[in-house]
Amino acid sequence: MRIFLACSNSCKFLGHILKCERNLMFPCATSPPLRQQVRYLNRTETWFSFTENDFVVCGKPYKKDEWTNVTPYLVPRIKQNLLIKKNHPLALLSEATKRFFDDYKFFEFNDPVVSPHDNFDSLLIPKNHVSRGTSDTYYLDKNHILRTHTSVHQTHCLSAGHDKFLCIADVYRRDAIDKTHYPCFHQCEAFDSFTADQLSLSNIYKNKDQEKIRTPKSQENYSDEATAKVEQHLKKTIENYVRFLLGKDFEFKWVDAYFPFTHPSWELEIFFNGNWLEVVGCGIVEEKILLDHNVSNKISWALGFGLERIAMVRYAIPDVRLFWTDDTNFFHQFTGIGPMDQYTFKEIPPFNPCINDMSFWLPQNSENWSPNDFYDLCRSEAGDLCEYVELIDDYVHPKTNRRSQCYRIFYRSCQSPLTKAFVNTIHDKIAQQVEKQYNVEVRNKLPLK
Ligand code: DAH
Repeated sequence: MRIFLACSNSCKFLGHILKCERNLMFPCATSPPLRQQVRYLNRTETWFSFTENDFVVCGKPYKKDEWTNVTPYLVPRIKQNLLIKKNHPLALLSEATKRFFDDYKFFEFNDPVVSPHDNFDSLLIPKNHVSRGTSDTYYLDKNHILRTHTSVHQTHCLSAGHDKFLCIADVYRRDAIDKTHYPCFHQCEAFDSFTADQLSLSNIYKNKDQEKIRTPKSQENYSDEATAKVEQHLKKTIENYVRFLLGKDFEFKWVDAYFPFTHPSWELEIFFNGNWLEVVGCGIVEEKILLDHNVSNKISWALGFGLERIAMVRYAIPDVRLFWTDDTNFFHQFTGIGPMDQYTFKEIPPFNPCINDMSFWLPQNSENWSPNDFYDLCRSEAGDLCEYVELIDDYVHPKTNRRSQCYRIFYRSCQSPLTKAFVNTIHDKIAQQVEKQYNVEVRNKLPLK
């Protein structure tokens, strides 16, 4: 789990492609560098393929290098465009969000391939941050990744001269496997900026006689007063948005948070099904990010959240895999539901899971091994039949110094019952692949029930 990335369940920019609402081209005619990258991406074309050493993603060819970890399982998800799929709860939520933020310039960045620089450096994410590694991020090659968050587009919108905007897009992360985590999900990013005048202040900066130091309340240059006013606007906006979606009747709290690109930073948590759920990350944008894009005399807020998490709360959807299902039982329930309608999903009673364990010795030099490698492999081999994977044992043999891990895999389809024999063949495939790809030595692969 990464530390700064909220809302996980938590680009060039070679051919970065933008598409606006109603398929208008990106409207900023004044920014040649960005504009050159603009073209409409037709996601219905055949535009990905994999061979031994090369692959095509979004119509662009790549050569595998030592960074490559995108999988043939993942890449077709890019083309599914759930955000515009008819009767899809994410499309309804996306539409409702656009309505709420209707005075924000809306951008849909259609191509998820971005550069590590835009995804991380432009947001001041430290060079050694764990989220940059191949354990957490999908790399096409050293210089191209699948965006891990919609915050990446702050740099694109700011460079194009916009400082009040909204983006909604698909994002990709190597992460745990459970009912709220899926390697592809959707995020929304909103950004707003204020001059001293807009805040009814004479100045947004600290006075000459005030020490320019960072405190828990404010960054070096912005005054406490300006920061507090923007904080208030930000928190009210988020609270109103969540009320707009979920109705008045929910419990929430604000907690202090840390993000490299904002200070101060907060998370909104809402009480759902007996737990506090982080739903929105936000904060006062680091002044450096504005200055890097030639925006001065402004103070901004940014917020970001995962659509799946909010949709799961809004419609009581119990499992994130349902968003990807082809099952008409799922879509029929959303037929005729409008973006502003409240609806409670009628859960299809779950089938019994098949639970199998797998333990293996890791190779001697296993420092780079991450459980995310195993989770990704389970998704590749078992697809959406894999509901939950848990690392249940991790130990080093005292004599041989060999490290062993044991994972428990819950197989269960959202659509139909699975037979043990069928599950065992998938389990065997995972065992073969983990041996082949990671040079581990499988010790046991036992059905538990
Ligand atoms: N990008 C963060 C994530 O993926 C979410 C986020 C946090 C976005 C704070 C923001 C922000 O704009 O200010 O977890």
